[in-house]
Amino acid sequence: MSRIVYVNGDYVPEAEAKVSVFDRGFLFADGVYEVTSVLDGKLIDFEGHATRLERSLKELDMASPVTMDELLEIHRELVRRNEVAEGMIYLQITRGADADRDFAFPDPEKVPSSIVLFTQSKKLADSPAAKVGMKVISIEDQRWGRRDIKTVQLLYPSMGKMMAKAAGKDDAWMVEDGAVTEGTSNNAYIVKDGVIVTRHLGNEILHGITRAAVLRFAREAQMRVEERPFTIEEAQGADEAFITSASTFVMPVVEIDGEAVGSGTPGPVATRLREIYLDESRKAAI
Ligand code: PDD
Repeated sequence: MSRIVYVNGDYVPEAEAKVSVFDRGFLFADGVYEVTSVLDGKLIDFEGHATRLERSLKELDMASPVTMDELLEIHRELVRRNEVAEGMIYLQITRGADADRDFAFPDPEKVPSSIVLFTQSKKLADSPAAKVGMKVISIEDQRWGRRDIKTVQLLYPSMGKMMAKAAGKDDAWMVEDGAVTEGTSNNAYIVKDGVIVTRHLGNEILHGITRAAVLRFAREAQMRVEERPFTIEEAQGADEAFITSASTFVMPVVEIDGEAVGSGTPGPVATRLREIYLDESRKAAI
């Protein structure tokens, strides 16, 4: 079945979907995005993703071509048309296609933003990776300084995934000034003596929507949480490690730079948080 995608107001088969070569997303990575997961044909934490999208747009002085209510309807329509039971919806808004290539932002009255959404069907909840855990390497964080804005500048994270792949591992954790910032496309956590540690919010990391939900569930379950920087050495000496994101939920990390974390198998805190996250998210899905 050919996928139906959404492009600037139209639902079209993917082969017919077109964006201009002058689109600033293509020329300047001048765009923002969101990834929202779908379970049982319903959207997980749509409001969180829509709120972060509005913030990303505002930080870049970019206009949204749709209202947030319209955005919800487009997400739902794509799920319906593509019969997505489980998977992700990718959304991208760019500063549109100017008449020429020009570094200066175009006048938003003359050049409307572009919007594209598409679905990816994928098994997420019953993930084999969650049973064995991931192995990560550490790499230097060489991204720009506004990682709190979810932009489509993903070349360095892509390079990080390739470095991990070349080392025979699953992903990379990025390190800046001696402390872990986050994973290439996820937030990073460790657990020591029952305390969950994850980097505090700031411009250095993306404010994960899954992170916010998982920390809330952890606190509600009387688990202790510390939001502060941690080093790779501290992580290697932890009892457990894990990551969170919209596409992996809560995923255990069992090895960092060749050193087993704890027992080298998924730990009880990560396993429990994954269960709670899946249960609660399914209940709140819309
Ligand atoms: N990535 N940090 C980075 C750098 C990310 O790219 C992501 C998400 C996260 C987790 O955020 P959230 O919980 O809101 O998904 C943290 C998405 C899934 C992606 O690029 O595919």
